[in-house]
Amino acid sequence: MNFPIERFLQLKTPFYYYDMDLLKATLVRLRDSLPDERFIVHYAIKACSTEPVVKQIASFGIGADCVSGGEVEASINAGISPDKIVFAGVAKADWEILVGLRNNIFCFNVESEEELVNINTLAQQEGVTARVCLRINPDIDPHTHKNISTGLAEDKFGIQIEDLESTLHMFDNLGNLHFLGLHFHIGSQLLDMEPYRQLAQKVNEVVCQTEKLGYAVKVINVGGGLGINYHEPDKEPIADFKTYFGIFKDIIRLRDNQTLHFELGRAIVAQCGSLITRVLYNKHSHTREYVMADAGMNDLIRPALYEAYHSIDNLSNDEPKTHRYDVVGPVCESSDVFQRDYLMPLTRRGDLLAIRSAGAYGETMASRYNLRPLPLHYTSEELKKHQR
Ligand code: LLP
Repeated sequence: MNFPIERFLQLKTPFYYYDMDLLKATLVRLRDSLPDERFIVHYAIKACSTEPVVKQIASFGIGADCVSGGEVEASINAGISPDKIVFAGVAKADWEILVGLRNNIFCFNVESEEELVNINTLAQQEGVTARVCLRINPDIDPHTHKNISTGLAEDKFGIQIEDLESTLHMFDNLGNLHFLGLHFHIGSQLLDMEPYRQLAQKVNEVVCQTEKLGYAVKVINVGGGLGINYHEPDKEPIADFKTYFGIFKDIIRLRDNQTLHFELGRAIVAQCGSLITRVLYNKHSHTREYVMADAGMNDLIRPALYEAYHSIDNLSNDEPKTHRYDVVGPVCESSDVFQRDYLMPLTRRGDLLAIRSAGAYGETMASRYNLRPLPLHYTSEELKKHQR
C-alpha cells in the first residue's frame, strides 16, 4: 500500500487512514464475484461506520447488516436504502425496534421467543407488519478465536434447532409478523472454508425441515465472517470472495424464488484501513527494546482483546528489518501491546508507524479509556483534496 507520508507528517496522530482506492477495488471484486442476482450482500456496519467508507459501500448498492438502532440510523444516513437493511442482535431495545419499524427495514433477524412477541406488539402499535428471519444456532465450530465464535450450541446466539418447530408455530398467532426465512452466522475471521461447507449443508437440512412444517423460506441468510490475511496484507489485499460464494452456490439448493444473503464486514473494509501513529519514545528495559507509540489499546483494542496480529510498517525508515521491538501504547494496562519481539528497521522517536489491516473493528471499537481522545480519521480522497 502507498501511504501519503508527506501529508501524514503534517497531521496530528493517532488517526485512522482509509485507502479509498483499495476499498473501491475490493467492492468491484466483490460485485464481480457474486454468482447471480439471487446472491445479496449486506455490509456489517459494525466493522466500520466511518461515514465516507459507508457512503462508498452504499454507492455500490450494497445493503447493511445492523446490530443496533444507531447502526440502522447511520446506514440510512449514509445512503443505504432501508429495504436493504437487516437488523440482528440478541437483545433489541424497544426504541431500536421502533427505528427499524418506522423505517420499514427489510427484515429483523430474531433469536428469542420473547423478542418475537415484543416485535409483534410494537408492530401492532405502529400498525405495520414486521418481516422476520429466525436466527438458528447451527452448532458448527468455526475454528476461530473463541471470543469471535458464535455458531456453537454453547454460544449465546441463535435459536437451537430443537426449538425451531415451536418457534415457527408462534408466527401463527403473531399477526403483525411475517416469517421471511432463516438466518445463520457462525463466527468471524474464518480462513478455513470447511466450516462454511458444513454450514451450507446444515442450511439445506434446516430449510427442508422448515418447509415441511409448512413455512415457506424466501430468504436464507448465512451471515458473514470471511477472514483476511493479517500477516501479509500487501500480498493479499482483497479477500477471495469467489471461492467463498462458490461454496454456498455449489452446496445450497437455492430455488429461483429464494435469495441468499451474506453479511460481510471485515473482508470488505479491514485491509483498506491503517492506524497511523507516531513513536513517542524508545526504551530499553531488562531484556526488551520498547517502541512506545502515541496510539494505544483504546484506539485499537484487537491485539489486547483477541491476541490479534496486526503487521506494522515503519513509514519513516525503509531500511532492512534488523531490530526486534515490543511495540506498545501509552495506556496504563500491561495488555496495551501491539506486537512483541517484532522485527522492524531501526525505529526512532518521531517515526510514523502504520498498524495495518485495521479498517475493520478498529475505529468502531475505539474508546475514551484513560480519557484519551477518540482517534481521528482521514480518507485518501480527503488528504488528496487538501493537498491541491
Ligand atoms: N453477521 C453477524 C450476525 C455478526 O455477528 C457479524 C460479526 C457479522 C455478520 C460480520 O462478521 P465479519 O464478516 O466482519 O467477520 N470485533 C471482532 C469481530 C466481532 C464480529 C461480531 N460479529 C474482531 O475485531 O475480530
